[in-house]
Amino acid sequence: MSAPLPSGLTLGSLRVDTPVVLAPMAGITNAAYRRLCAEQGAGLYVCEMITSRGLVEGDQHTLDMLVFDELETTRSVQLYGTDPVYVGKAAEILCAEHGVAHIDLNFGCPVPKVTRKGGGGVLPWKRGLLAEILEHAVAAAAPYDVPVTMKTRKGIDDDHLTYLDAGRIAQETGCAAIALHGRTVAQAYSGAADWDAIAALVDHVDIPVLGNGDIWEAADAVRMVERTGAAGVVVGRGCLGRPWLFRDLAAAFAGEQVAVLPTLGEVAAMMRRHAELLCQHLGEERGCKEFRKHVSWYLKGFAAGGEMRRSLGLVDSLAALDRLLAELDPDEPFPVAELGAPRGRQGSPRGRVVVPEGWLDDADGSGCHLREDAGETTGG
Ligand SMILES: Cc1cc2nc3c(=O)[nH]c(=O)nc-3n(C[C@H](O)[C@H](O)[C@H](O)COP(=O)(O)O)c2cc1C
Repeated sequence: MSAPLPSGLTLGSLRVDTPVVLAPMAGITNAAYRRLCAEQGAGLYVCEMITSRGLVEGDQHTLDMLVFDELETTRSVQLYGTDPVYVGKAAEILCAEHGVAHIDLNFGCPVPKVTRKGGGGVLPWKRGLLAEILEHAVAAAAPYDVPVTMKTRKGIDDDHLTYLDAGRIAQETGCAAIALHGRTVAQAYSGAADWDAIAALVDHVDIPVLGNGDIWEAADAVRMVERTGAAGVVVGRGCLGRPWLFRDLAAAFAGEQVAVLPTLGEVAAMMRRHAELLCQHLGEERGCKEFRKHVSWYLKGFAAGGEMRRSLGLVDSLAALDRLLAELDPDEPFPVAELGAPRGRQGSPRGRVVVPEGWLDDADGSGCHLREDAGETTGG
């Protein structure tokens, strides 16, 4: 028999009422989206990734991303960085000036622009450098009692796995948890997430492990935790166009029945709420523009025709959005064929992961100086 499901999540001094984390997603998990998801249920809702150098240098674009909703009581931010000193300073700024209650560090980004410079998912290959970055972040956040976590992948590719060492280093440096996306950088988003790797990491470390990858329904999250022993789950693409997944997740971990599926009318109301929150935070013009990328996720599998989708994809005001949503059939049932189906980016594996010259020759990298990029926003 499997162990009882965790009822919440403890990250250092931070207690989350359900063991569910919204995965940081660049361009998606802004203040409006986090609020929308939080309205559905408890969880830890992580901000889009920001760069430590951008924060330290006061870059305006970085500061614009560091915005919180007025109801967001637990401010959680993901930092990207390759330089221990910048990361430490950025962590200090987040705690001292932005009232952040949780800092996650990104060591999973597979984007070539990032890995080429030794950042994101390829950085944990340099065990010594990883330790230095984590030490600086933990030391900066400790006086504020703010937990630091790291999020990573299995490794660069199947021949260069790093996750078990990363878990050990996270534990030794005082991280409150480690989140593992069960794919290598080489896989990007292709194939299936390896939940056995999550289980292996749970066996390997004493700190909480958060499992990530391919949770499309609340039942998947329960299955992952039961199978791996993870302390909680990190949910990314599954909630695109489906913020109510957080309601279902909270219910599932509370041992309750998952609620009924929304009709198209209920989905339209959710779309309206999402657009409204984006407009509140960004102004109507930018808010509507940002909303457009979510339309196809919300309507996935519904009968809404091409013309309607095109018009929604060009929406430029809340009034126009209301007119279009009113044309949808509110009684159309949820397309059950979509349940459990992947959504969001999938793509194909990378033939070769681009890393700095000679990167693989040395697996320590202590004191190694990598150029920090202030404007990196491509995420993970
Ligand atoms: C659009 C998009 C943006 C992402 N941005 C980030 C990011 O900024 N930081 C990060 O650690 N991971 C990022 N990810 C990866 C997710 O956090 C997550 O690890 C990945 O999608 C696997 O989880 P899933 O199967 O639940 O989607 C991003 C993923 C997507 C689809």
